[in-house]
Amino acid sequence: MGTDATRGPRLIVALDFPVPAQAEALAAALDPAACRLKVGKELFVRGGPALVERLQARGFEVFLDLKFHDIPNTVAGACRAAAELGVWMVNVHALGGSAMMRAAREVIEGYRQRPLLIAVTILTSHDAGALHEVGMALQPADAVQRLAALARRSGLDGVVCSAQEAAALRASEGADFRLVTPGIRPAGSAADDQQRVMTPKAALQAGADYLVVGRPITAAADPLAALAALNAEIGGA
Ligand code: C5P
Repeated sequence: MGTDATRGPRLIVALDFPVPAQAEALAAALDPAACRLKVGKELFVRGGPALVERLQARGFEVFLDLKFHDIPNTVAGACRAAAELGVWMVNVHALGGSAMMRAAREVIEGYRQRPLLIAVTILTSHDAGALHEVGMALQPADAVQRLAALARRSGLDGVVCSAQEAAALRASEGADFRLVTPGIRPAGSAADDQQRVMTPKAALQAGADYLVVGRPITAAADPLAALAALNAEIGGA
């Protein structure tokens, strides 16, 4: 079923819906034993913590994808709130720096089931030109490596990365560093607006721990069947 003993389902379904009722209707059709759920900025701004609580009450573990980036005290407070909400995973921008990341890590330490704390390195919408524009001379791949290493040294559990980056990060950051990869598409399916996609099996073989999947499930005529097919593919990885 695409799980391992310690980590549960590897598939994280991105609930990219503008309306909480749509997200909840999909959640009602999915199985918490087969996937986790990702709540991002739009859905959270509309549905708030109450929506996250209702998803958790259905048995789902939630990745709160709000990519915090602010002064250390403010990000620590947001991460404390996420821990108290009981989410399974939360993320911050590595560009917020080591002091911010360490403050976030320290504040969630005491929680019985503390959330996994994950960093975003370089947004995939940023190419070398966009980095140069904001004063970063590094190539995107080098910036990703540098920020992932900084995140690990700051005590974070892992990073969001493209599956294309997974093998290099697995080699440089070690076996325990969690790699969360979007841009996943079953073989032969539409890439949508993703530039570089990888099949679930190839992403796991490249070193990914968790796979973020949106439209292949959310836009499927039968989301539960689509989820089952993806998990079947992973089971063979
Ligand atoms: O529908 P699709 O599978 O492309 O959705 C992918 C999800 O992963 C979306 O929620 C998107 O915002 C997120 N994501 C991404 N690429 C990144 C980081 C996050 O596609 N680099």
